[in-house]
Parts: sequence; structure tokens; C-alpha cells
Amino acid sequence: MEIKMLNFEPMNDVHLNEVKLLEKLLKELDENKDVTDTLEKFIRDVEKHFAFEEDLMKKYDFFAYFPHKMEHDKILNELYSLRGKDNEYLKKYFKEHFIPWLDNHILTIDTVTAGFFYMIGAEIT
Ligand SMILES: [Fe+2]
Ligand SMILES: [Fe+2]
Repeated sequence: MEIKMLNFEPMNDVHLNEVKLLEKLLKELDENKDVTDTLEKFIRDVEKHFAFEEDLMKKYDFFAYFPHKMEHDKILNELYSLRGKDNEYLKKYFKEHFIPWLDNHILTIDTVTAGFFYMIGAEIT
């Protein structure tokens, strides 16, 4: 899976790591394995990904903090609702919904956010 690279390297690192976990999850779904643990790990990784961006946006008073956080919260709530769903449901959700969402999120609000972090010389502490 290909994702757009942004102007702020720490965000790319987080995204690339997430894509790796997502590919592992999709592979296990294709093999019809029990994905309970992998799904939990993936959800925890998404939580960390979003918290990383939100903490940095707060730290530097990013003007679009709230719309960005709202996009995160909406998709996280969807992920929480996946627990216990069967593999066919999960496969359909990830392929038809989550992946297009992630692509679009990175192409739009994450791109603007990364541009802002780059412009102000944001630092990870
Ligand atoms: Fe992101
Ligand atoms: Fe984001």
C-alpha cells in the first residue's frame, strides 16, 4: 500500500509503521485467521498515531486542531465498533472504508498539518 509522503518526517514514520500493521491485518484476514490480537494491536497503534498528531497540534496551537481531531475521533469510534465482527465484515470495512479514509486523511488534513509543522520548525520532545 502506497501513502503520500509529507513535509514532516516524524509523521511519515508514524504512517509507515501503521501501514505495515495494516498490511499484516489484511493478510491475516485474507488467510481467514483469528485476527482478535492483530486488530487490538492495530487499534492501539491508531490511538498512538492520532495522539501523537494531536499533542503536537496542541503544543503549537495549530488552527485546525478541532476539525483534525474530529476526523480522528470519528474513525476511532468506528474501529472500536469492529470488535467481535466476523472476518468478511472486517475485510469489507478495511478495504472499502478504512483505506480510502486513510488515503484521503493523509492527502488533506494531515498534509496541511505537516506543512504547518514544517513551516514553524516543530520539534518532537
Ligand atoms: Fe496521520
Ligand atoms: Fe491525522
